[in-house]
Amino acid sequence: MSEPASPSTRAHSRPATELDAIVIGAGFGGLYQLLCLRDRLGLSAQILETADGVGGTWYWNRYPGARCDSVSHSYCYTFSRELLEEWEWSERFPGQAEVMRYLNHVADRFDLRRDIRFNTRVTSAMYDAASNRWQVHTRDGHRFTAKYVIAALGCLSSANVPDIPGLESFAGEWYHTGQWPHEGVEFTGKRVGQIGTGSTGIQTAPVIAETASHLTVFQRTANYSVPARNAPLTPEFKRYVHEHHEEIGRLVRSTENGHPFEVSPRSALEVSAQEREKLYEAAWETGGLQFRATFEDLLSSKAANDTAAQFIKGKIRQIVKDPATAEALADIDHPYAAKRPPIDTHYFEAFNRDNVSLVNLRADPIERITPRGIKTAAKHHDLDIIVFATGFDAMTGALLKVDVRGRDGLTLKDAWKAGPRTYLGLQIAGFPNLFTVTGPGSPSVLCNMPVAIEQHVDWITECIAYMAEHGIERIEATEQAADRWVDEVNAAADATLLPRATHSWYLGANVPGKPRMFMPYAGGMTRYRSFCDQAAANGYEGFELVR
Ligand SMILES: Cc1cc2nc3c(=O)[nH]c(=O)nc-3n(C[C@H](O)[C@H](O)[C@H](O)COP(=O)(O)OP(=O)(O)OC[C@H]3O[C@@H](n4cnc5c(N)ncnc54)[C@H](O)[C@@H]3O)c2cc1C
Ligand SMILES: NC(=O)c1ccc[n+]([C@@H]2O[C@H](COP(=O)([O-])OP(=O)(O)OC[C@H]3O[C@@H](n4cnc5c(N)ncnc54)[C@H](OP(=O)(O)O)[C@@H]3O)[C@@H](O)[C@H]2O)c1
Repeated sequence: MSEPASPSTRAHSRPATELDAIVIGAGFGGLYQLLCLRDRLGLSAQILETADGVGGTWYWNRYPGARCDSVSHSYCYTFSRELLEEWEWSERFPGQAEVMRYLNHVADRFDLRRDIRFNTRVTSAMYDAASNRWQVHTRDGHRFTAKYVIAALGCLSSANVPDIPGLESFAGEWYHTGQWPHEGVEFTGKRVGQIGTGSTGIQTAPVIAETASHLTVFQRTANYSVPARNAPLTPEFKRYVHEHHEEIGRLVRSTENGHPFEVSPRSALEVSAQEREKLYEAAWETGGLQFRATFEDLLSSKAANDTAAQFIKGKIRQIVKDPATAEALADIDHPYAAKRPPIDTHYFEAFNRDNVSLVNLRADPIERITPRGIKTAAKHHDLDIIVFATGFDAMTGALLKVDVRGRDGLTLKDAWKAGPRTYLGLQIAGFPNLFTVTGPGSPSVLCNMPVAIEQHVDWITECIAYMAEHGIERIEATEQAADRWVDEVNAAADATLLPRATHSWYLGANVPGKPRMFMPYAGGMTRYRSFCDQAAANGYEGFELVR
């Protein structure tokens, strides 16, 4: 996790490194983007990466229980047949360490490290119209110039530590799950307070509870969760995967959310109550994100959604023995899957342990952090460690931390002051030759992300190849195309129940002061892909191309 210290005064005396392209970030997106630019297009390209290793999300999120929610055979690249054939996943849902091994293997196999500059945080990126080049500055005082900048900084890479009064006075240790220490944290015999019950909190609580003397979970918004039913992969399943790479690849590219399962064509309301219960039971037993594929209208009809919500709330009440705790956990105020639906390994069961308790912050809010723990309205909770499972300044946070300036000195902060505005989540009007991998306005976080990432990187690579072939020096999304696209993104969200979770990070609602706007594109991956393909086929319609 080591980051270089503050900028040195040597900063601007060194000559700038000149490149064709700079990629920011060495996660799933950046690694594949470097490979495409360097090995397919023959460009000089480098990744600049804050961390001292590759992996992105999986480098930073080393909290106990960190695990993938996409099934392993779909949480991978599909661009290389050899890579698919030589890699074998061990579990249905790979843990953090296994995904890290995979991404390190990719970096080594394609010899990517020689073009990655680690321990390098990008602090600013400024477009110079006269040279049609980006000037990129890093925290350790290096300067780079490049014709293209590809931002692959991640949708969930800017940790959100809430501003709770008194944190600086806390005498114990505290950690954010998205900046977890590499050496791990010793919970044995410790009183631990965990704030947050999103996907992360739901994964980590049962594991922390195994060794902590006591775990207090501070819950602001109760959440749904479905069992993951993780298990080692059987030899038969591994063989199936090896024999069906192409079919699996076709499947994930054909579904609306990039996962290798189809959504049932049935409505939850067209079957009898008995039949519905049977189908939900079967989905609960199967486990995983595909629970939400049980019926086609779970995300579009409130009445249909209510049936899933009631089923899960019923399960919570069955599992959790203490009635008051069960009620607080099942008191969920938003439609099922309107926030990213977590999957878990014994989350609700953890509350049956003697050493786990729940504080319902809706009834008993946090007043402050004290040197000895957390003071809520009703009592003081003595703690040795506080774990912030409080999520991220999602989708825009990482890029807005960089001082990005486009044409005529326009800052990204100004361009996005009412919320992120992009065309297709790929480009921003006013910022020529800057591309965003899984930027706001693209399906990104609503999709199995390696699928969304490969689609974006392939599109960007083909666009840059087209520019070279046609002698085009500059590409920039037009204001009109961006306006139309924002309307499309809003309409797609409004056709679903997703905006009804008014406290969701999809809307930016988890970060005080952040503009409220539904950020990912909810119209589905196939529809989205056709917009992108059509724009390209029509000579990059919606973009201004300058020779
Ligand atoms: C705990 C967790 C579990 C997840 N599980 C799943 C899952 O099961 N399925 C799924 O589809 N998605 C999942 N996701 C989403 C996950 O983020 C993506 O799947 C994927 O890993 C994103 O890759 P990326 O390259 O776009 O971004 P990241 O992996 O976030 O990589 C971005 C990189 O950019 C670097 N960076 C950021 N700012 C700068 C800067 N200014 N200068 C230099 N470098 C910078 C960061 O250090 C980071 O290494 C999960 C996310 C989290 C947090
Ligand atoms: N395996 C996986 O696939 C996996 C695992 C982890 C994360 N992820 C991805 O990362 C995303 C983020 O997940 P996350 O769980 O890290 O974050 P999250 O979904 O944003 O959840 C954060 C939690 O912290 C709470 N919180 C935030 N600020 C608070 C405050 N000031 N006081 C009290 N509670 C506060 C939130 O409550 P409110 O709901 O009230 O705001 C919420 O319960 C997921 O949605 C998913 O896309 C994926």
